[in-house]
Amino acid sequence: MKNQESVMNRSVNRRSFLRSSALAGGAAAIGSGLLGSRPVQAQDDDDRDRNRGGLTRGDVAILRFLAAAELIESDLWQQYTELGGVSSDGSTNPYQAAFEVLDGDGPQYITSNTTDEISHETFLNAYLESKGEEPVNLDEFRTLQGSQATGAQNIGRLTNLMNLTVDTSWYIRYRSTTNPDFGATYPQAITLAHVTAIPRNDNDFNNQQHIQAIANTAAFHFGMIEQAGSSLYSALGQKATSAEVLEIIFAIGGDEVAHFLEWVDFAGNGVQQPVAPFTDPTNGLTFPDFNAKGDPLFQTNLIFPVPCEFISPKLPKCAVIRPVTDRFGGALAAANGLIGSNLFMGQSKRFLNTLKLMALEADAARRGHF
Ligand SMILES: [Fe+2]
Ligand SMILES: [Fe+2]
Repeated sequence: MKNQESVMNRSVNRRSFLRSSALAGGAAAIGSGLLGSRPVQAQDDDDRDRNRGGLTRGDVAILRFLAAAELIESDLWQQYTELGGVSSDGSTNPYQAAFEVLDGDGPQYITSNTTDEISHETFLNAYLESKGEEPVNLDEFRTLQGSQATGAQNIGRLTNLMNLTVDTSWYIRYRSTTNPDFGATYPQAITLAHVTAIPRNDNDFNNQQHIQAIANTAAFHFGMIEQAGSSLYSALGQKATSAEVLEIIFAIGGDEVAHFLEWVDFAGNGVQQPVAPFTDPTNGLTFPDFNAKGDPLFQTNLIFPVPCEFISPKLPKCAVIRPVTDRFGGALAAANGLIGSNLFMGQSKRFLNTLKLMALEADAARRGHF
C-alpha cells in the first residue's frame, strides 16, 4: 500500500494537478482566482524544488515518465520472453520456433531486449532515488491476466498482449521521404486489429501457420514499441535542463534505436519469401509478400531510416529518427499510442489517468526552467 500511495501522492499532488489541468485546457474549470494568485505555499514548494538534488522539476517529470514507460516496456517484454525468449533448458516451443523462422537468433534478441528494458527501468528509478526523488512504482496496477500457455508465469501483468491493435505505420514512415513532424501521415503497412501477439494458451501452439501469424504480429509490435521509445527519448531530450539528465536520455535513447533497427529487419522477414505470403487458417489473418508489391515503401531490405524532411523543408533531406516533436513523439503522444493499441485492455481508469498525468508533466518540462 505504501507504494501505491507514493505513486499517487507524487503524481497527483495539488500543484501537479493544477498545472496539468491547465495544460489539458481545464484551467477555466478550476477558476482564474486560484491560478492567478501565488499562494505562499506554492512559493515554498518552488524553492524546495530548486534545491531538489540539483534536478529541476521538469527533469524529474521527464525521468519519472521515462521510468514509467520503461516499467511498461519491461512488463510486456517479460511476457514475450517467458514464451518466446531463450529457454533455460534448451527446449523450443512452437512460438520460439516461429521466431526462429524470422531469424535464427530471434529468441536471444527477445531475451536481450527484455534484459535491457529492465536495466533501463532499474537505472532510472535508482537515479531518481539518488537525487532524493520518489521512484516510480506501478505494482498496484499489475492486475491483468496474462497468457496461460505453458511457460508463462501466473502473475499479474500491467499490459495485455492478447488483443492488440498494432500500429504498423512506422514501417512505411521510415521508408518514406516525409516526416510526421511536418504533418505527414502514413497508412498501415498491414492491418493487425484485435489480434494476439503471444500464444494465449497451449491451443495456440497447435497450428503452425497460426503460431507463425502470432509471431509475425509480435514482430510488428516489437517495432512499434521500440520506434516509439526512440522518438520519445529524442523528444524529451530537447526539454532536459541538466547535462547529466541529457546524457542519460541520449544514452538510453540510443539503445531504444538499437532495438528498433533489429525489429525493422525482423518484422520484414515475416512479410517476404519464404515465410510469406501465408494465411492463419484459424482467423484469416494474411501476411502478404511485401516485396511482390514492387513499392520501395514496402521493400523489406530498406531497414535504415530513409532520408526525409528535417528541421526545414528548405534544408536537404536527412536520415533521422522521426517524429521528434512533442505533438507526435512526446510523452502524451507515446501514452496515447500505447492506449490506442489496446495494450492496457482491462486496466483501471486510475492507471490510465496516472500515466496521462505523468505524460503531461513530462511534456510541460522546458529546458532551463526551474
Ligand atoms: Fe527501454
Ligand atoms: Fe525499448
